[in-house]
Amino acid sequence: MDEPLAAELPTLTTDRLLLRAPRESDIDAVHAACQDPEIQRWTIVPSPYRREDAEFFVRDLAPEGRRTGANRIWCVFERGSGALVGSQALVLRAHDPGSAEIGWWAVKEFRGRGYTTEAARAVSHYGLRGLGLRRLEWQAYVGNGGSRAVAEKAGYRFEGTLRSYAEQRGTFHDAWIASLLPGDLED
Ligand SMILES: CC(C)(COP(=O)(O)OP(=O)(O)OC[C@H]1O[C@@H](n2cnc3c(N)ncnc32)[C@H](O)[C@@H]1OP(=O)(O)O)[C@@H](O)C(=O)NCCC(=O)NCCS
Repeated sequence: MDEPLAAELPTLTTDRLLLRAPRESDIDAVHAACQDPEIQRWTIVPSPYRREDAEFFVRDLAPEGRRTGANRIWCVFERGSGALVGSQALVLRAHDPGSAEIGWWAVKEFRGRGYTTEAARAVSHYGLRGLGLRRLEWQAYVGNGGSRAVAEKAGYRFEGTLRSYAEQRGTFHDAWIASLLPGDLED
């Protein structure tokens, strides 16, 4: 019974990237990428990040999310080299099935090339057109200028700051919030 839902995550391609469901063979690269202090600082990944955490990401979080519909998670690869360059996710909300939160991280060595923006555009398009969502939301802890730059380049409109809003390992941070609606898509 799991297969049809599990098959629902489409592989997305852009000019330079391929986005597909995480696989067993990605565990080492995900584990290595998430050692980066910046990823641990600005996201909810566990800190310290152990190999078991990468295994959980690939074997449980991503397939379970596809099965239940709670999330869609992609690993992002450079088409030329096949290297893992990041991850993208849509987290859907049981209380509001028409909206989802988008999230991302980039492998340190592949930052500054526009890859995260390129991948975010593809995932946003899929969320609004493929899944037919009404609203995509981006949140970041206040001060994450890099993520905000990506969101704004991908077309997200800044909406403000929510105080003591976003939980990270038991601590609540003030959060920036932005959104993208179907009418904002450039095509
Ligand atoms: C934020 C992050 C995803 C950006 O990834 P990236 O692949 O370097 O992003 P891009 O190359 O697509 O950059 C897009 C734009 O953001 C700008 N940008 C990137 N990092 C920036 C920073 N730290 N401060 C200001 N601008 C930044 C780039 O200059 C680029 O703008 P330009 O085209 O005008 O030069 C990456 O730094 C990262 O993984 N950070 C840690 C995890 C994280 O913060 N995730 C998001 C949680 S909300």
